[in-house]
Amino acid sequence: MRTPIIAGNWKLNKNRAEAEVLAKGVVEAVKDAKGVEVILCPVFTALETVARVVAGTNVKLGAQDVYWEETGAFTGEVSGSLLKDIGCTYVIVAHSERRQFFGETNETANKKVKAVLKNGLTPILCVGETLAEREAGKMEAVVSAHVRHGLVGLSVAELEQIVIAYEPVWAIGTGKTATPQQAQDVHALIRSLLKEIGGETVAAKMRIQYGGSVKPDNVKELMAQPDIDGALVGGASLKADSFAALVKF
Ligand code: PGA
Repeated sequence: MRTPIIAGNWKLNKNRAEAEVLAKGVVEAVKDAKGVEVILCPVFTALETVARVVAGTNVKLGAQDVYWEETGAFTGEVSGSLLKDIGCTYVIVAHSERRQFFGETNETANKKVKAVLKNGLTPILCVGETLAEREAGKMEAVVSAHVRHGLVGLSVAELEQIVIAYEPVWAIGTGKTATPQQAQDVHALIRSLLKEIGGETVAAKMRIQYGGSVKPDNVKELMAQPDIDGALVGGASLKADSFAALVKF
């Protein structure tokens, strides 16, 4: 059985005071939630604040990005060991906004996945096609490349720890959700790729989240799909009540 995983990606929102309020609201609202993993991913500057709030609760801390080197002359970057030091257990890797605006490639995604694993943290590797790619019939090729190249050179034991997030770019922040069937079709494709890469047992264990305008009114149907194991949530994670409603799908 795969434990469902609901993660809030706060993106570039919330200063420390706001993050504290939101994290406290979430902790209170989901304190009785069982059988589901709950993760909050604030901006780097609010990680410590949120780490204090979630300490000793059933809510975990994640970061939105990482750099693959540990230390050195890499101005502006943050390493996996620093994220671990501050209390993170999850790290989002290669979010489509990183791919679109900050030059993230499948190669850098793979380096980051490895760096995250090396520090004993769990990567959430984001994959997904743009609208133009989908309309040009390239969805399968793009998603396959994101998955295959993102996971190059990993052992079965490492693969098992990775979470994949399928986020069609056309559904992110647009209010346009993939239908449960559209999402399920791609999740099934990803699961079959995982089977090719790591074998049946590992593919059955790996969790695949859906992301893209997940809201309290569509989460249930999405989560009912056999290959959807959770949600990576942007907009609806910025309010404690809507995020808690997702956790309690
Ligand atoms: P959204 O963002 O829920 O606002 O569409 C999802 C994401 O980018 O992770």
